[in-house]
Amino acid sequence: MTKHTYVCARTVLETPSSFEDNMTMNQFCLAILKCYNAWTDAPPNVFFFASQKIMSFRAYVSVKVVYTAITQVAFPRFWRNWWYWNTTEDRLLTYVKKTATEGEPASVLAAVEKYNRDYEWTIMLEPDKTKKLEEVVKEASPEVCLEMGCYIGCSALAIGAQLPPGGRLITTEIDPRIADIARQLISFAGLDQVITVCTVKAEDLIQALRSDYSVDKLDFVFLDHFKQLYHPDLKRLEANHLLRKGTVVMADNTVMPGAPDFLEYVETSDKYKTERFEFTMPVFNELDAMTVSVYTKDY
Ligand SMILES: C[S@@+](CC[C@H](N)C(=O)[O-])C[C@H]1O[C@@H](n2cnc3c(N)ncnc32)[C@H](O)[C@@H]1O
Repeated sequence: MTKHTYVCARTVLETPSSFEDNMTMNQFCLAILKCYNAWTDAPPNVFFFASQKIMSFRAYVSVKVVYTAITQVAFPRFWRNWWYWNTTEDRLLTYVKKTATEGEPASVLAAVEKYNRDYEWTIMLEPDKTKKLEEVVKEASPEVCLEMGCYIGCSALAIGAQLPPGGRLITTEIDPRIADIARQLISFAGLDQVITVCTVKAEDLIQALRSDYSVDKLDFVFLDHFKQLYHPDLKRLEANHLLRKGTVVMADNTVMPGAPDFLEYVETSDKYKTERFEFTMPVFNELDAMTVSVYTKDY
């Protein structure tokens, strides 16, 4: 107990201050979290709840993750939104326009990542996953790509910047306010001729790909929307004959928060050859994985 009190006190004192004018609340929350971690580390994962039913899909969530999300993300975000009377995404856009070089996707991506790391954590792809995504897209050299779950366009920028001449990405974000920020970031990066941001449900976009976007087959698909939709939306792509032999289907968060149905399907079906790449989620410090699956059929 004495040791834990000491560790808790040290973590409060050592909590770094990095956010200029509105760090106080974040610092406070971080300190609480660190105390909590130090305290619960004695018997690790005491509070682990397996296989919770959350939003009607199976996910593995610990109290630690929920606590982190509330104290490090939701609470500071709420406080800043109220204080500045705007949103995290608005602040991110302002920061990028102020610090990045217009027309340079790499500079825009670096500014987005810096904001995410140093100021406010968001649900966008983390840098090591972005690197993996870039690597996979570069190797596949796809012409027609689909992304489900655009958010502010971090992964879309990463994909768009790696496409060969003539390549295009159609991405969708269900929230129109966020889709608008993504369009502004993509346009600022100079990729608006390569990336189209739609504001429809992924399932509706899939139905409209052939008629409205002249897509015959997709070369690359990235799934990063609601995890419980990965499996049904992949089946929808198959049913609409939008995959060809060699289409690369990449998915994020297949372990945390988790897309168990999808994972089981791509890892066991003979329609796919799948590889898993493991990552540790920063902030939450939990294991996650991206999967890269190659479609093996001609139908
Ligand atoms: C994890 S974020 C995507 C992050 C993004 N790929 C990036 O790296 O910047 C998931 C996003 O998918 C959106 N979304 C969830 N379900 C969707 C659906 N059915 N159709 C389209 N977008 C959806 C959410 O609004 C959210 O912004």
